[in-house]
Amino acid sequence: MKIFSIKNGWIGALTAAAGLNLASCKKPPQASPEPRFSAEQFEARFYYDLGAAEIDISSYPKKQQDGYAVFARTCSQCHTLARPINAPFAVRKDWERYIQRMHIRTESRPGTGISKAEAAVVLDFLVYDSKIRKLDNKSEFAAKTEELRRLFDEVVKERDRLNLGKVEGKARPPGPYTGDKPRP
Ligand code: HEC
Repeated sequence: MKIFSIKNGWIGALTAAAGLNLASCKKPPQASPEPRFSAEQFEARFYYDLGAAEIDISSYPKKQQDGYAVFARTCSQCHTLARPINAPFAVRKDWERYIQRMHIRTESRPGTGISKAEAAVVLDFLVYDSKIRKLDNKSEFAAKTEELRRLFDEVVKERDRLNLGKVEGKARPPGPYTGDKPRP
């Protein structure tokens, strides 16, 4: 019996040693200085920044497919499309408010702009898309939201562990993290 447990111990040790070479292996934090997330993930300011940055519009009517193109151009000038796509806002009055707020933001960002015509098309698209993905498919969207919230918690923890600082407003994370690749 003793011999077996020693043998198992060795097998366990060997498996663990082999596992250390795999990226998926959980090493203790001190032994793992490499960031676990990408620079883009570390820059997330909202959990919704961490989700998909595009929508499958293949089943949308032509008008909304055209609207998506305007949305994609207009709303990716300052942050990725992940922000509006995975945000909890879903009804017209919320989108009206946020598009208005984004319009105000363009005034302090040279080179950006949202015209009245673009705002109207984007509003129409976001109301349609939110109904399909967020309201009609409520439980699917809620599950995705939960997943992103959990991921965001992890990213924030890792950000703190690496002392990357908080991401406030438009600021990039200050401190030692400068590259877009994991440090060696
Ligand atoms: C001029 C730059 C700029 C443009 C263009 C822009 N945004 Fe934003 N957006 C920001 C900034 C900065 C924030 C974070 C501060 C804030 O919420 O106002 C933000 C935040 C957001 C948020 C999260 C707000 C919250 O408090 O949860 C949503 C949703 C959003 N934007 C949607 C959009 C949509 C939709 C468009 C296209 C109509 C758009 N953005 C275009 C700069 C911009």
